Amino acid sequence: MTSNTAQQDAAVADRTILANSAYADGRHLAARQSIYRWQQPQYDLPGIVLEELASTRGTVLDIGCGNGRFVSRLHKDRPDLQVVGMDISAGILAEVEKPVLVADAQALPFADDSADAVLALHMLYHVGDIEATIQELARVLRPGGMLIASTNSDSDKRELEQLWMRAAGDVLGITDGPARVSLSSRFSLEKAPGYLAVMFKDIRVRELPGIIEVTDPGPVVAHLASYEAWAEQCGVPFHETIGRAAEIVAAVIADEGSFKITCLGGCSPLERDCRSGSSTKQSLTRR
Ligand SMILES: C[S@@+](CC[C@H](N)C(=O)[O-])C[C@H]1O[C@@H](n2cnc3c(N)ncnc32)[C@H](O)[C@@H]1O
Repeated sequence: MTSNTAQQDAAVADRTILANSAYADGRHLAARQSIYRWQQPQYDLPGIVLEELASTRGTVLDIGCGNGRFVSRLHKDRPDLQVVGMDISAGILAEVEKPVLVADAQALPFADDSADAVLALHMLYHVGDIEATIQELARVLRPGGMLIASTNSDSDKRELEQLWMRAAGDVLGITDGPARVSLSSRFSLEKAPGYLAVMFKDIRVRELPGIIEVTDPGPVVAHLASYEAWAEQCGVPFHETIGRAAEIVAAVIADEGSFKITCLGGCSPLERDCRSGSSTKQSLTRR
C-alpha cells in the first residue's frame, strides 16, 4: 500500500485536473477499465449493480458516472427506471446516454428524498469533502432508498505500485523511486465503512478479489499512462518511467511467462437509514 502526500491527495480531488485533464474524455478511464479483461474471475460490475437494484423502482442517479458504463446498461436492462447520469466533467458526458447533467457531487442539484437509488461508483475518493458528499447522497435518497458505493482496497494492484517504484528508481538511479499517486486511498475499501456508517445502516461490503495476468506489457503500460493528469505529482519523469516499467514487465514475461497483478475492489449496497437520514452534521464527527 502506498499513501499519498497531502499535495497528492489535493491533486486527486482537484476539480480542474479532474474535469479538464483526467476525465476530460473517457480515454484514461477506459484504459483503467480495460485491464480487467485479463482478470480472473471476471465480474460483471454493471450486472452486480442491476442485481442489487432488483427491487428498486423509480429514479436512479449515477453520480460521477464517467463514460456511462453503468448508465447504458441500466437503460438497456431496466427501461422501467428513470436513470440520470451526472459528472463534474462535461467532456466525459458527451457520449453518455441522456439525460445527463454536469454538477459537483458535493452540492447535488436534486431535491431531498427525490431518488430511489444513488450510485457513487469509484468516485468518492475524488471529492474534496467526502463526509459532506455522503451527507448529500443521503439527503437526495428517499428513506429506505439504496446507495451503492464502490472503490478499491489499499492492497489493490500492489504489483503495479512496486513496478512503478522500481522503474522510477531506475530512472532516478536509486533503489526505489517515489510511489505514484494513489487514486483510491482517500476512500479505500478499508476506509469506506467508517465514512458510510454515519448516514447508512447495516454496512456490508461485497468484495471482488481477482488476479490480472497479462502476457504483453501493453495493458500495464496503458494503465500506468492513464495517470498522466497527475504526472507532476510523481516526482520523476513520467513517460521515461513508463518506458522503463514496460522493459521490466517484458523481462518478467520473458522469464516467467506472464506478469500478474493482484486485485481487490468491492462495493457496498446500503439502505438509507430512516433514523439518521436528517442532515445531522454533528454525527459526522463520530469517526
Ligand atoms: C474513476 S471514474 C468512475 C466512473 C464510473 N462511476 C465508473 O465506475 O465507471 C470517477 C468519475 O467521477 C467524476 N467525479 C470526480 N469528482 C466528482 C465530483 N466532485 N462530482 C461529480 N463527479 C465527479 C470524474 O469526472 C469521473 O468521471
